[in-house]
Amino acid sequence: MTQSDRRIEEVLVAREASDGDGVRLKRVFGGGDLSRFDPFLMLDEFGSNEASDYIGGFPSHPHRGFETVTYMLEGHMEHRDHMGNVGQLMAGDVQWMKAGSGVIHSEMPKQVEGRMRGFQLWVNLPASEKMGPASYTELAAASIPKIEFDGFWVKAIAGKLRINGRELVGPIGSEGVLATEPGYLDIAVDRAQDIVVTIPSGHTALVYAYEGALSIGEPAYALKAGMLARLNREGELRLSVSGETRLLVISGKPIGEPIVQRGPFVMNTVEEIHQAIRDYTDGRLLL
Ligand code: CO
Repeated sequence: MTQSDRRIEEVLVAREASDGDGVRLKRVFGGGDLSRFDPFLMLDEFGSNEASDYIGGFPSHPHRGFETVTYMLEGHMEHRDHMGNVGQLMAGDVQWMKAGSGVIHSEMPKQVEGRMRGFQLWVNLPASEKMGPASYTELAAASIPKIEFDGFWVKAIAGKLRINGRELVGPIGSEGVLATEPGYLDIAVDRAQDIVVTIPSGHTALVYAYEGALSIGEPAYALKAGMLARLNREGELRLSVSGETRLLVISGKPIGEPIVQRGPFVMNTVEEIHQAIRDYTDGRLLL
């Protein structure tokens, strides 16, 4: 550890939760004072061998004011939205959906047995884009760069980050079109490694271990599967991994605006939230 390494500010343990129509999942973070995760609002991990844990899926529901990012590790989820998009999300696929002023969609499992596994991340939008048009992007697994290093690989889903000095560019946001400049990496480690991730100065940095364990900082903090570390916003991110491990590294530029969330709506003020709820109940969310 050097003076310039990022330090852990907080560690959270993913907690069991239920969402949609009885889908059992782990909420890694979400709720409470969200400004510390700015621009991120929530991360869920879903993963089960039991169809009864996921088969109800997420029937038709609204969003306004942010983006949802779904990354599938295993299984098959079907997305349908009011824009007419139908997405068949399979292992390794990513869906990046901007709710903007309003989306109504469903996310339903298309398998009745076997493992369903993945993540959903919520990325906030600045006030200037919250009431903008909705959009939908689907990335097939094959279109996501998988970069091999000696002893580990990295899938670069979003952003422009460096690992051990090598620049990785993900298909989402690499043109700088997203105000929050999100970085999203999935890293799979085979054997003992030190990994240095260079994240832009001032950006929020999150590390989520979902298999195995790693250590961060000095004195070393052991981050085990199911734990999320939130780091300070300056310096290099130095990870020490001793064996087979899977982790996500998520980074983004804070928006710095007030965050008011009510369920699937995330706006800047309570009045805007009330408006969103009225618009939805009156059938005007999409107008
Ligand atoms: Co949704």
